[in-house]
Amino acid sequence: MAYKPVKVALIGSGNISYTYLNTLTSGFSIIDVVGCSDLIPEKSKARAELFGIRQMTTEEILNDPEIEIVLNTTEIFNHTKVTRMILEAGKNCYSEKALGCTYAEAKENVELAKSKGLRLGSAPDIYLGAAYQTARKLIDDGWIGDPVTAQAWCIRGHNAGMRPTLPDENSPRGKKGTTIPFDMGGYYVNALVSLLGSVNRVAGFAHVYPHHKYINTKNPLFGQPIRTDGGATTLMGVLEFENGTYGNIVITGDGFGPEIPRVEIFGTLGTLTIPDPNCFGGHNGNLDVYMTRIGNEGSFRVPFTHAFSDTAWDVPPKSGKREPCYNSWRGIAVVDMAYAIRQGRPQRSSSELALHTVEIMSSIEDNTEEGLFHTMESRPGRPAPLPHGLFGPVEIMETALASYPGVEL
Ligand SMILES: NC(=O)c1ccc[n+]([C@@H]2O[C@H](COP(=O)([O-])OP(=O)(O)OC[C@H]3O[C@@H](n4cnc5c(N)ncnc54)[C@H](O)[C@@H]3O)[C@@H](O)[C@H]2O)c1
Repeated sequence: MAYKPVKVALIGSGNISYTYLNTLTSGFSIIDVVGCSDLIPEKSKARAELFGIRQMTTEEILNDPEIEIVLNTTEIFNHTKVTRMILEAGKNCYSEKALGCTYAEAKENVELAKSKGLRLGSAPDIYLGAAYQTARKLIDDGWIGDPVTAQAWCIRGHNAGMRPTLPDENSPRGKKGTTIPFDMGGYYVNALVSLLGSVNRVAGFAHVYPHHKYINTKNPLFGQPIRTDGGATTLMGVLEFENGTYGNIVITGDGFGPEIPRVEIFGTLGTLTIPDPNCFGGHNGNLDVYMTRIGNEGSFRVPFTHAFSDTAWDVPPKSGKREPCYNSWRGIAVVDMAYAIRQGRPQRSSSELALHTVEIMSSIEDNTEEGLFHTMESRPGRPAPLPHGLFGPVEIMETALASYPGVEL
């Protein structure tokens, strides 16, 4: 069935807007990207010119009755405010992660969306990519038996972005909800929930590591201690999943570069080693799925069963400049959301899934002193898988995002 395209606009034309606009203007028939805005007009102008869309003001976006989905790609500390603005304007919203800096503020927006009958979803959507959908199929088809334990580790260098690199006393970076564990948590939680389902209980440790110094000699603060401002820079949690699997999650910005991302699922018959949940997977970056299975020696690379792997690194960004994650498919959950609107079915990247991350991170951070287990309120359940196969050009891969259990195409 041919559906009427959904008009989409973007607020926050910074670094990552490149990847969203690149994905969403790459030929998905359900998406019609109208325009983009930014507080700094030069930024939205540059993106609009590059992608052949309108440079708009945020007010124009919010007041345009034809726009149905608005993307919020502002900085982490602006997500709650801008998402609320979008919802209050009566628009469906897809936000960059995390959904909020605290559980309470994220939940408020989830409830606002519900009360207005609007859709709210949040990045990351990497779990819809080739590597994680392949891993999910292997688990669901029983290749590793029953999952028993899982580990998700993200070890990042201490100055990887979420602390001030310039002496800006008013910067909210470093406060609760703005640090690396919140920035990166969604990749790991979405990956685990897609593979194993919702988390039932969580406990853990959180701390602020105060001792690092700026090591880049070009930084005006070279040699000085990196400022911290109350937000945990390391979180370590134990997770009890509803399905009985136990897991751990370690997310730190206190390590050293380069980043060490790791997700492993240990089952009764085998182990899966799955690549960085910040990447869609692909041979270019050696981002493959490996399985070790009873009766075999060593680990085996498993060919991808699903589409949406990373695109080739050697195809340069359209802008001719370095762009973050330019070879990825960030934004495909927006395509899924557009189909969900037209088909009247749930979207895969639900508000509950987004809230789950914030609840896990916040409850570890807030319960460290008491050492208590927190029973989760949000219960997103597993997002529906994508159908396997459907490799090829965008119009073929789009069929995967249009497909949903119980919906006739
Ligand atoms: N940069 C990356 O590599 C990367 C990768 C994945 C995800 N992300 C996430 O994407 C989000 C944005 O990151 P970024 O690196 O693109 O940040 P950025 O600072 O480059 O861009 C954010 C933009 O939002 C604009 N903005 C803020 N408030 C606004 C408002 N009210 N109206 C209009 N514009 C507004 C800012 O002027 C800025 O240009 C963050 O949540 C980040 O974690 C970034």
